[in-house]
Amino acid sequence: LSHVLLLLLLLLGQVPYKTKAGRDVMAASICPACSEPCVEPRLLPCLHSLCTPCLRNLETVGEPNRANTALRALCPLCDAEIALPPGGLGQLVPDYTALGRGGAAGTTGCDLCADGAAAKRCQSCGVRLCLFCCQAHRRQKKTASHVVVELESSRDCSQAGKPFFCPSHPSEELGLFCEQCDQPMCQDCVAERHRQHPYDFTSNAVHRHGDSLRELLRSTQQCMSTLEDVLGQTDSVGNAIRTRAEAVATEINAFARGYVKAIEEHRDRLLKQLEDLKVQKENLLHLQKAQLQQLLLDMRTGVEFTERLLTSGSDLGILVTKGVVTSRLAKLNSAAYSTHPNVDDSIQFSPQERAGQCHGYEVFGAVICKAVDPTKCTLHGEDLRSARQNELTGFTLLCNDTTGERMGRGGEAVMVTITHKDKKDCAVKPTVCDNGDGTYHISYSPEEPGLYAVCVYVKGQHVQGSPFIVMVKSKFRKHRGMFHCCTFCSSGGQKAARCACGGTMPGGYQGCGHGHKGHPGCPHWSCCGQVKRSSECLSGFPSDRSQRSLLRTVEL
Ligand SMILES: *[C@@H]1O[C@H](CO)[C@@H](O)[C@H](O)[C@H]1NC(C)=O
Repeated sequence: LSHVLLLLLLLLGQVPYKTKAGRDVMAASICPACSEPCVEPRLLPCLHSLCTPCLRNLETVGEPNRANTALRALCPLCDAEIALPPGGLGQLVPDYTALGRGGAAGTTGCDLCADGAAAKRCQSCGVRLCLFCCQAHRRQKKTASHVVVELESSRDCSQAGKPFFCPSHPSEELGLFCEQCDQPMCQDCVAERHRQHPYDFTSNAVHRHGDSLRELLRSTQQCMSTLEDVLGQTDSVGNAIRTRAEAVATEINAFARGYVKAIEEHRDRLLKQLEDLKVQKENLLHLQKAQLQQLLLDMRTGVEFTERLLTSGSDLGILVTKGVVTSRLAKLNSAAYSTHPNVDDSIQFSPQERAGQCHGYEVFGAVICKAVDPTKCTLHGEDLRSARQNELTGFTLLCNDTTGERMGRGGEAVMVTITHKDKKDCAVKPTVCDNGDGTYHISYSPEEPGLYAVCVYVKGQHVQGSPFIVMVKSKFRKHRGMFHCCTFCSSGGQKAARCACGGTMPGGYQGCGHGHKGHPGCPHWSCCGQVKRSSECLSGFPSDRSQRSLLRTVEL
């Protein structure tokens, strides 16, 4: 967990890459995990080197019992999950660079005085020297001829000259490189495991392999510079985001301040409107009250006087005063006064109502004092009073308020009933559509012909013109004539009787009948000639007056 924390802190850029002891990990041959001098440090695949005790303590992950899976561990330095070599920790490559750094603490310090910081390196002694010791080094006879180089430019010379020994043959130096197995080896190895493998001296092989390593290093360095560029860009984008967010926050605050101001002003406007409305209604009510009180007072005076007159007045007194009393009482009786209060308490607030703009902001909410008056609502339609069977028909209801103005808004409780006059069970279900503007469209489709009573209620009261009667005509036009076999029979043998079928008879008869072409024929309607008894009449009466009279004869 502490590694995860460290990694997090690193990501956040809060702490430099340091161990617990605070030493610079990369610079010393101190094990970066335990901060002790390195003992046989080895390289992990992530190129962090750990001392052997730390390697043994590595936290392994995954299921260790599972076969075929390489054991994995977490690098304590970078938390990378790494695969451990199947042969165990011993197969990890030793970290020669760490071994070569002298294995002592404070390697960035001077190797001689341990006080100053090392600045140079003596190539002859292999020690690092501070500037002071470097001068001393030159002054002393013994070491005056030594070559001292700048620390930065020197390769890790402490390693130079120190021979590496073969792990399999500890007395043999690793001086050869097997090209086939891609690993260094000693003379004895050639004879044993690398017989017939192509090989070379390490000093030759290093040129070839060093070149490809340098090539890789170069491209990796390029990647690094690209990464640094990108990181720089992320920083500048981060700054841009911060700046932008601040600017937008300012905008939001300004907008919200304006909005709040607009809403407060709208609120004040609404409250003022409400107050005006209240005062107006109260004034109207006071006026009505005063008038009613005056009328009541007048009536009381009249009543008291008349009662007194009738109970205690003399006969003559009554007769003398009768005239003035009668006319007064008659006048009071016929005085017009409304039986309801003139105003009502219909004041509402409608929060959804658009209320225009306030300082450029759209605001909502309005005070509404209109109340629908059913007696001022009217019905409209092309032909309110007639309809045809099975055809959709309808009418429109216009709602006015108590002052006789259009309501201009929907939402009223509108109820419509349409019932057959004779067949009570044959009611029609109307559809009421609220147009939202104070008008309502009512549509219905009657299934039976006949007379219907239509009632339209608003707030439970009949509107103007309700109820009314609708005549629903049959889908078919009715035959006006007679269903007969011939005009001769149906007219009682009249010569002039015609039929709409167009048939004639010999002997001067104008209509169809016995002996005509195709007699006896089938029965048909005299008005249109249709041969189906239950059918629609195809033609009206002939407009010709003379013919009409003839047809009437046929109907006899
Ligand atoms: C209803 O309002 C309209 C428009 O204000 C008006 O023309 C009409 O006469 C009013 N009808 C009634 C019955 O008050």
